[in-house]
Amino acid sequence: MKILVVGSGSREHAMGYYLKRGAPSSWRLYFLPGNSGTRELGEAVPLDPLDADRVAAWAAEEGVDLAWVGGEEPLLKGLVDGLKARGIAAFGPPQKAALLEGSKIFAKTFMARHGLPTAPFRVAQSYEEALSLLRHFPQGVAVKADGLARGKGVAVAEEAGEALPYLQAFLREGVLGEAGRRVVLEERLKGREVSLHGLLFPEGSFLLPLARDHKRLLDGDEGPNTGGMGAVAPVEEELLPLLRRTIWDPLLEALRDEGLYYTGTLYVGLMITDDGPKILEFNVRLGDPEAQVLLPLVREPWWEIMAYAREGKVPPRLSFRPGVRVGVVVARRGYPQGRPENPMPFPMEKLMAYPGLTLHPARELSHRGDRWEAGGGRLLTVTACGKDVEEARRQVYRALEEAFQDGDDIHYRRDIGRGSL
Ligand code: AMP
Ligand code: GLY
Repeated sequence: MKILVVGSGSREHAMGYYLKRGAPSSWRLYFLPGNSGTRELGEAVPLDPLDADRVAAWAAEEGVDLAWVGGEEPLLKGLVDGLKARGIAAFGPPQKAALLEGSKIFAKTFMARHGLPTAPFRVAQSYEEALSLLRHFPQGVAVKADGLARGKGVAVAEEAGEALPYLQAFLREGVLGEAGRRVVLEERLKGREVSLHGLLFPEGSFLLPLARDHKRLLDGDEGPNTGGMGAVAPVEEELLPLLRRTIWDPLLEALRDEGLYYTGTLYVGLMITDDGPKILEFNVRLGDPEAQVLLPLVREPWWEIMAYAREGKVPPRLSFRPGVRVGVVVARRGYPQGRPENPMPFPMEKLMAYPGLTLHPARELSHRGDRWEAGGGRLLTVTACGKDVEEARRQVYRALEEAFQDGDDIHYRRDIGRGSL
C-alpha cells in the first residue's frame, strides 16, 4: 500500500507518525513535500501541493493507493478531484465541499439554509454597505473575510467602532486581496470554544473526542490570533451527546442533502454559549495542533482506518484510549509576524532525551547533518499523555523548561491545558 500525506507541518508529521505505527512493512509513505522530521517516516515528493494536475499525474504513475490531505489549500485547488479523476482514493473533500472552509459566505448561507445553530449574520460587498449593516450588531461584531486568509481574516470587535479599521483594510485597501473583497459580519458570541472533529466514510461517521485549541499567542488568551499555540484532548466529554444531536447529525444530513458529503475529516469550530452550542466555522481537515493530540487517542491503527477508506468502506468501530494528551507548540520568537529569521541551532537532542514525549517537527525546523536548526515561525509540537491533564502538562513543561532558557529566541505558551476545561 502506498499512502501520500499532503502537507509539511507538524500536523502532517503526526499523520505520518501515527499511520506508520504498527503498519505492515510493505506499506510505504510519501510526503508532499513533508519536512525534515517526515524524512524518517517516508519519502519526500518535491512537487507543489497546489498543482493538482501534476500531483495527480505523479501519483498515478507511482501507483499511490490513497492520499490523506493535511491542509485546506490543496483541497480548494481541487487536488482530491484531480486524484479521483485518475482513480486514486483520497481522505479529504472535493473542491465544492472544501468551500465550507474556503468561503465564509458559502458556509454561513449553507448553515442558514439548514437551520444549523450559528450566529446571525449579514454579508457586505463594500465598505459603505458594511457601515450601514453594523447597526444590526449592538452586542459586538465579528468581521470575517470571505476567503482563506491564513488566520488574518477574522477580527472580533466589542463595539462597532473597533471593526472600522478592519473593514477599511479588507474592503477598501484590499490587504487580503480577493479573499477580503466580501465580508461576513456576524454577532459576537460569548462562551468557550471547542473543536469537534469527525471522520466521514461513505456509509457512516465517527466523532473523535472533543479538543480545545489555544489560538492566542500569549498566556491567558492575550495577544494576536495564531494558527494555534497548543491543544488538549479530551475536554468536556459530557457535551458530546448534545453536540451529536444538535450539531453533528443535522450537519451530516445537510451535507448529504446538498451533495457535499465526502470521505475525510470534518472539524467544526464551536462556541459553547449560554444559549447552547453555535458553529463558528467549518474546517474540512484536521486542526493543527488538534491532530497532534487527537490521532494518538484513537485505539484502532490509523493504517487500518485508511485501508477501509481506500476501499470505500467504514471501519467497524472507533474506540479511544484513556488519559489526556496535551500538545504545546514551540515557535521562534517573532511568530506570527511571518518575518524571515536567520537559522539558529535548536536543542532537539535535549527534547529527544525525554522518553514520555512525542515530537512533531514543523516545516521551519530543519535537520542538517547532525544539527537541528530553527527558522522563523512554528517549529514543532511537543506532546505527552497523562492520566489527567496535569500529569500530561507536567511532562511537556518539565522538558521545555529544561531545554530552553528565558533569554532564548523561542516562544511557547505556559498555560496550555489550563483554563476552561
Ligand atoms: P473563525 O475562523 O471563524 O473560527 O474565527 C477565528 C476565531 O475568531 C475563532 O476561533 C474565535 O475565537 C473568534 N470568533 C469567530 N467568530 C466569532 C464570533 N461570532 N464571536 C466571537 N468570537 C468569534
Ligand atoms: N487549530 C486551528 C486550525 O487548525 O484551524
